[in-house]
Amino acid sequence: MTGGAGAALATANAEPVMRGSGPAAVYVLRLSALDLRPLPTAVPCARLHARQVIREWGFPAIAADCELITAEIVTNAITHGTTPSGSADLPPVRLRLSGRTGGVQIEVWDGSEEMPRLRSDPLGEEPGGRGLVLVAAIATRWGAYRTRGGGKCVWAVIGAMAEHPLLPEAGGDGGS
Ligand SMILES: Nc1ncnc2c1ncn2[C@@H]1O[C@H](COP(=O)(O)OP(=O)(O)OP(=O)(O)O)[C@@H](O)[C@H]1O
Ligand SMILES: [Mg+2]
Repeated sequence: MTGGAGAALATANAEPVMRGSGPAAVYVLRLSALDLRPLPTAVPCARLHARQVIREWGFPAIAADCELITAEIVTNAITHGTTPSGSADLPPVRLRLSGRTGGVQIEVWDGSEEMPRLRSDPLGEEPGGRGLVLVAAIATRWGAYRTRGGGKCVWAVIGAMAEHPLLPEAGGDGGS
């Protein structure tokens, strides 16, 4: 597929690989990565990408949920995770989808160290703060962690693979 305006595309569908060793090793069946310019056009681009890739991988039952969660997390990355500027040097927002038996993991990197905050009163009068509530309600697990080179990754697992998500090695301070 091709990227929309403002989207720098780098898609890779990798061969199956093993991560870790021993009985708890995670078998990654599919990988797809997409770099996006941190512009509003990134959201529909990411959404369409997730829909097509996840259907192609054979997860039609969770495709709509994956699409929705991808859109929420990428929207947050664009809105809260990047500095508004016309600069072409902005770090990209990175989307990675991993498909394994039973489910899909969505990971979105952005350049900000600021962490997502789940609203404690989602039914309150204040506007906003519903996106992560939705993510938390739909995802099997979700969280966020700071990455070594700066920025952070917000991730969510959709489907029945909660016991083996591709978590950071250590130091994650996720939402669940
Ligand atoms: N990628 C991110 N980088 C920095 N802060 C984030 C990020 N994602 C979320 N946040 C913080 O977490 C809060 C809650 O996010 P959430 O998506 O629930 O609400 P929102 O984006 O403010 O509004 P809504 O999604 O309802 O339009 C945000 O207001 C923001 O402060
Ligand atoms: Mg949001």
